[in-house]
Amino acid sequence: MNKPQAKLITNRSNISYLSGFTGSSGFMLLTKNKNYLFTDSRYIERAKNTIKKGIEIVDVTKVWRNPKELEESWQKILRKHRIKVLGVEEDNLTVAKFKKFKKISKPKNGKIKFTDISGEIESKREIKTGIEIKLIQKSQRINEKAFTEIKKIVQAARRNSNSISEVDLAWKIRELSHKYGAEDIAFEPIVAFGKNSAIPHHQPGEIHLKKDDVVLIDMGVKYKGYCSDMTRTLLPQKPSFRQKEIYTIVLNAQKEAIKKIHAGITGKKADSYSRAIIEKAGYGDYYEHAGGHGIGLDIHESPSLSVNYTKKLKKNSVITVEPGIYIPGEFGVRIEDMILLTAHGNKNLTFS
Ligand code: GLY
Ligand code: MN
Repeated sequence: MNKPQAKLITNRSNISYLSGFTGSSGFMLLTKNKNYLFTDSRYIERAKNTIKKGIEIVDVTKVWRNPKELEESWQKILRKHRIKVLGVEEDNLTVAKFKKFKKISKPKNGKIKFTDISGEIESKREIKTGIEIKLIQKSQRINEKAFTEIKKIVQAARRNSNSISEVDLAWKIRELSHKYGAEDIAFEPIVAFGKNSAIPHHQPGEIHLKKDDVVLIDMGVKYKGYCSDMTRTLLPQKPSFRQKEIYTIVLNAQKEAIKKIHAGITGKKADSYSRAIIEKAGYGDYYEHAGGHGIGLDIHESPSLSVNYTKKLKKNSVITVEPGIYIPGEFGVRIEDMILLTAHGNKNLTFS
């Protein structure tokens, strides 16, 4: 397949990364000399006010009463740049939308060819700029401010059994994130009491906190588009031997991994450090998820810390390190920090 002469960008995070546009409707066309953003009247003002210089806005507002409007402007641009091969994000573009683009992509002398460019922009996004790193750090500072208060609420609720439910605490996370300046939460907060903490991504429910419950909290916010992500497991004031033992294994596994992870090793290798410690302690069967993930505009993005990820980690990537042990019917422990891969190892961006 020939190299694409232009790229159709439909992934919203990629659009935001490339242009600064945050509207929920629109797509980009990247050509050699010029980039275009297609959107409609709902978002034209926002686009004008926020997108990077040099990107041309193509207004397709009237398409609802003139179905040919998009086709005409699209074909004009394809012809102008002599585009015969167009890259598309196959992992994002729906079949229905692809069919529409196929239908309207008919430059004068023959049909256009399509080629997959999935992952190309995501690969660029792995390497964060200084500004992006600052925004991720700020996002995490907000997350930590909220978490500090959440911890106090948990402590108070332990003294007053049955006073707060998982759902209540999840709502507090939302409120506090807003209070400290987040524009949104990065994902539905995970709040799990007692045996629910053994479900890695438990959905908060109506169960109320009891004095001796393990509490697992996984929370993150968005700040200027950038996500944070942190998991903390709070043991009761007088933890059982088993709770302490498992907590210590997970903490050691996480610390050991953070000590060793650096740019240039594969995601598989990065995953293996904490997994080896948990396996050696006899709990390998109780740790069944990936050891971490890239984070940025998306809560989960490239790279991945997992057995199947054989690509190398890059300098200036931000990743999470989040081993866990989950004992069904009893309790679970996960500890998650965000780290920045530097020239000499890594820097922990999580202070709580
Ligand atoms: N903290 C949510 C996740 O990593 O899936
Ligand atoms: Mn995570």
